[in-house]
Amino acid sequence: MATAVITGGTDGIGRALATVYLERGHHVLVVGTNPAKGAAFRAEAHRHGAGDRAHFLAADLSLVAENHRLIDHVTTHHPAVDVLVLGARYHRSTRAETADGLEANFALFYLSRHLLSHGLLPRLRRAERPVVLNFGGAGLTGPVRWDDLQLRHDYPGTGALGHSGSLCDLLAAHLAATHPDVPQLVNHPGTVATSFAGEYDPATAAHVAHLRAHAKTPAQAVAQILPYLDAPPAPLTAVLEGHRVPTDTPAFDPAAALRLHTATEELLAAL
Ligand SMILES: NC(=O)c1ccc[n+]([C@@H]2O[C@H](COP(=O)([O-])OP(=O)(O)OC[C@H]3O[C@@H](n4cnc5c(N)ncnc54)[C@H](OP(=O)(O)O)[C@@H]3O)[C@@H](O)[C@H]2O)c1
Repeated sequence: MATAVITGGTDGIGRALATVYLERGHHVLVVGTNPAKGAAFRAEAHRHGAGDRAHFLAADLSLVAENHRLIDHVTTHHPAVDVLVLGARYHRSTRAETADGLEANFALFYLSRHLLSHGLLPRLRRAERPVVLNFGGAGLTGPVRWDDLQLRHDYPGTGALGHSGSLCDLLAAHLAATHPDVPQLVNHPGTVATSFAGEYDPATAAHVAHLRAHAKTPAQAVAQILPYLDAPPAPLTAVLEGHRVPTDTPAFDPAAALRLHTATEELLAAL
């Protein structure tokens, strides 16, 4: 039986994707920090007769050790991973650091995705037609601050999300180049009415409320990406609101992707 692992699967687009895969008969493991949301996911699955296939792991994926715990958990409990969705995010208007001493947005939105996509490769390779979905910038969100990847100077508020999106574009580009047997999808869904998990200053909170009021639904966002998940057209595919966008652009530059990979491995080695 196929398995989908969905970080951020307890809410928003991730939760909508989890419902789709449960309906298709997959085992679905959702990951988030809030056990109540995990219990709600499992209870709803139970009501639809899919309780035995709905799984939840509480983990704070902004911490490096928690990503390794998730990788170990999946490796122990799931023989293969057919779909890996990297959708956890939590945005703060002001800069914060994790217990690892890393900028929190960088740690959750980018570093976690680096760790999970690499750490779960052996399980993805066991699937007949694996795919990884990473919510990134899809080429929209550059440039990368190479001299300040953790945004120590002039923290850009909401722009920190975009910066991580650009890092995720390069992560997917590097994975697609080095492991083309595991297709990578980068998706920018546009504005979607989700929980917008985070801690916002009043101005940003008002902006988020406005965005939410005028956004598409998570189900609409899922409908736009599902055809690509079902049949990834290339080792690297970038999708913006349902439309494929070019990947032969600076946002996916192989040399920049390798540079980021090397910098990330050096950072992890130094922790
Ligand atoms: N919504 C939009 O308009 C929009 C636009 C562009 C891109 N995207 C991207 O789409 C993806 C999904 O976004 P969304 O808006 O659907 O998400 P969301 O509703 O804000 O939900 C965020 C998810 O991340 C989980 N999460 C938060 N902190 C976590 C942590 N430290 N460790 C593990 N999980 C954590 C939350 O679970 P808990 O609450 O249980 O912790 C929740 O399931 C994200 O990558 C986002 O950047 C969204």
